[in-house]
Amino acid sequence: MMTTTIPQTMGQQFGRRSWAEPWKIKMVEPIRMTTRAEREQAIDEAGYNTFLLRSNDVYIDLLTDSGTSAMSDRQWAGIMLGDEAYAGSNNFYRLEKAIQDYYGYKYIVPTHQGRGAEHLISQAVIKQGDYIPGNMYFTTTRLHQELAGGIFVDVIVDAAHDPTDLSPFKGNIDLNKLESLIEKVGAEKIPYVSLAGTVNMAGGQPVSMANVRDLRVLCDKHNIRLYLDATRMAENCFFIQEREEGYADKPVAEILREFCSYTDGAWMSSKKDHLVNIGGWLAVNDEDVFDKARNMVVVYEGLHTYGGMSGRDMEALAIGISESVQDDHLRARIGQVYYLGELLTDWQIPIVQPVGGHAIFLDAKKFYPHISQDKFPAQTLASELYLESGIRAMERGVVSAGRDPETGDHRYPALELVRLTIPRRVYTQAHMDVTAEAVRAVYENRENTNGLNMVYEPDYLRFFQARFERL
Ligand code: F0G
Repeated sequence: MMTTTIPQTMGQQFGRRSWAEPWKIKMVEPIRMTTRAEREQAIDEAGYNTFLLRSNDVYIDLLTDSGTSAMSDRQWAGIMLGDEAYAGSNNFYRLEKAIQDYYGYKYIVPTHQGRGAEHLISQAVIKQGDYIPGNMYFTTTRLHQELAGGIFVDVIVDAAHDPTDLSPFKGNIDLNKLESLIEKVGAEKIPYVSLAGTVNMAGGQPVSMANVRDLRVLCDKHNIRLYLDATRMAENCFFIQEREEGYADKPVAEILREFCSYTDGAWMSSKKDHLVNIGGWLAVNDEDVFDKARNMVVVYEGLHTYGGMSGRDMEALAIGISESVQDDHLRARIGQVYYLGELLTDWQIPIVQPVGGHAIFLDAKKFYPHISQDKFPAQTLASELYLESGIRAMERGVVSAGRDPETGDHRYPALELVRLTIPRRVYTQAHMDVTAEAVRAVYENRENTNGLNMVYEPDYLRFFQARFERL
């Protein structure tokens, strides 16, 4: 049994007492405010794509939580301990030990970031025509699975596709969907189940411990591997502590070890949870898979004891891993996301509920019911928010979903969202107030807004570089 109450703010949890970050500020980076006229010009030059803006033209940057965190003084001190040997750097062994200690996997392959690890694992285990079931696609993850010859199949619970459904674990895999896929294509056509915690494209929604335990049993029955996208697993484990019966008194670090123990390996974009600006890894328990990945890493990333990272990067990362699982850090991190979510909820602005771990997701279909999905409502909303305030957000809708490789048509996802992604330890509560007010201003002007027309479309991961014109 799991509890279904989801605290909207940390205040409620502590009887309306305020909470604060477990750190103070030692160094600041000035940011620039711009005029409306400057922003009109900047977004036009960027083809109405927030990825193509220069950061100098951005006031509050909520494009992503990836590589945008503030490092601690201990991490910066670690930078000075970089051992820049080509082979066998001290920092690699510290990193390897941190991953083994906190995640519990046996064999580690370092990579420059998450997609480097996705490339290795996909090439190592996927064969042409294989099926890879997962809890909603992620852009780079699915592309690497497809480039290796695989076909991604979404087996997430239906609730994940409904932004108003308040289920506490909307990242869970639907075991019935998974079983019917196994029945249909046969277990030998499924090299692994691709499980992500939290689920980025669903709004940062978590997976429960009960779900991963059940998955382990099902995978064992059919002899299928279970791999984890651990990119935001520390945040996922905070939600387990908050919402799942039996975990309220367990530290996140302990919950993380238990969760990983049900899986056969993981890939990681350390640019998120781990509080560093670059880095990633692949970790597995199977020696054969490790052997293949380690053979490949020297071709695509760098030697197997640095994988594209410098020694100092690996040191900061090893320290970041230990900071990332601290309960008070996660309470403040997710508390800040809840805070922004509560303001918008109070003003009845349509967002994905419940609020997830790393971001607020605006529901662009509800903002702009008069803009059809082929006119890119979420892309439109992201550019309107920038024009209003200089705040940079990211489209997570039809542009991100790309085209179906079979038919060549747009894929039309049920969720047409704009992500306001909160970097870790970077912005203050006042920045969140400014953000909420800017979103409200855009919402109030929603009826005067038209969609966009795509005028340039790259072949891969089009959302990064596509260009648009106003209709
Ligand atoms: N998996 C998930 C769940 C991610 O969110 C990302 C990156 C990756 C894998 C790939 O990692 O960027 O280090 O190569 N997400 C970023 C984002 C880009 O903005 O959500 P990467």
